[in-house]
Amino acid sequence: MTHADFPAALLHRLRHARHIAVLTGAGISAESGIPTFRHAQTGLWSQYDPLELATPQAFQRNPRLVWDWYAWRRQLVAHAQPNAGHTALVAIQRHAPQFTLITQNVDGLHQQAGSTAVIELHGNIRRIKRADDGVIVTAWTETEGELVRCPQTGSLLRPDVVWFGEMLPPDALDAARVAAQTCDVFFSIGTSGLVEPAGSLPRLALHAGATLVVVNPEATFAPHNDVYLLQGAAGVLLPQLVAAVWGD
Ligand code: APR
Repeated sequence: MTHADFPAALLHRLRHARHIAVLTGAGISAESGIPTFRHAQTGLWSQYDPLELATPQAFQRNPRLVWDWYAWRRQLVAHAQPNAGHTALVAIQRHAPQFTLITQNVDGLHQQAGSTAVIELHGNIRRIKRADDGVIVTAWTETEGELVRCPQTGSLLRPDVVWFGEMLPPDALDAARVAAQTCDVFFSIGTSGLVEPAGSLPRLALHAGATLVVVNPEATFAPHNDVYLLQGAAGVLLPQLVAAVWGD
């Protein structure tokens, strides 16, 4: 898209916005080579459904299987680089008088790109915590085939992410809701919107009077007066939008 392809009213709104809030999902990291949740997995893990592995029940049933799946995802993330979509959000943060970045992603790629004060609704895969009391653990040893335990207490270790059926960190969720209700423009980028409570944030923003911008190759939002549907990849559209609005 070029400058002329974005609606002029959207460019004007962004240029004059006091507070821009953004919600991202797995789609923004797709161009960094990290598979989205609802895409078929490949190779070793193709026989497992991620939606079934990311649960407390799966961990109770088979902690080693769940650990191994996250270990595999952790090494994918460790080798991944932020893409042009992540970088465009750093640029928007620089231009907007107030900016809030809320992510459902656990990969830390926003921070790696240079975004600051990121609200992580679903935790971060790079952090490990004790399963029983949630204390973060930074050093542990792993023996092939054995359960991974805290060297201090012997408790099982797990990733510091929010699984299906678990509560989101209350402070993060509160901050996300406040941002949705007080921003002028709310972006929903690369998320299917199927998982609550994050899935409701775009609607919350819309009801509070914000302009909603949806960036997704698929139609995930019904056409609506105050909604701009930018259909395409975040890594392509976001840099073009930044260039059209702020000229960089
Ligand atoms: N640019 C923008 N969007 C994209 C791109 C891309 N390059 N590629 C894919 N998408 C879109 C897909 O069309 C889809 O709508 O990203 C979305 C990814 O959806 P999901 O896989 O459902 O991911 P997400 O919405 O982040 O899932 C929410 O569910 O499994 C849990 O905790 C997990 O945080 C995750 C949550």
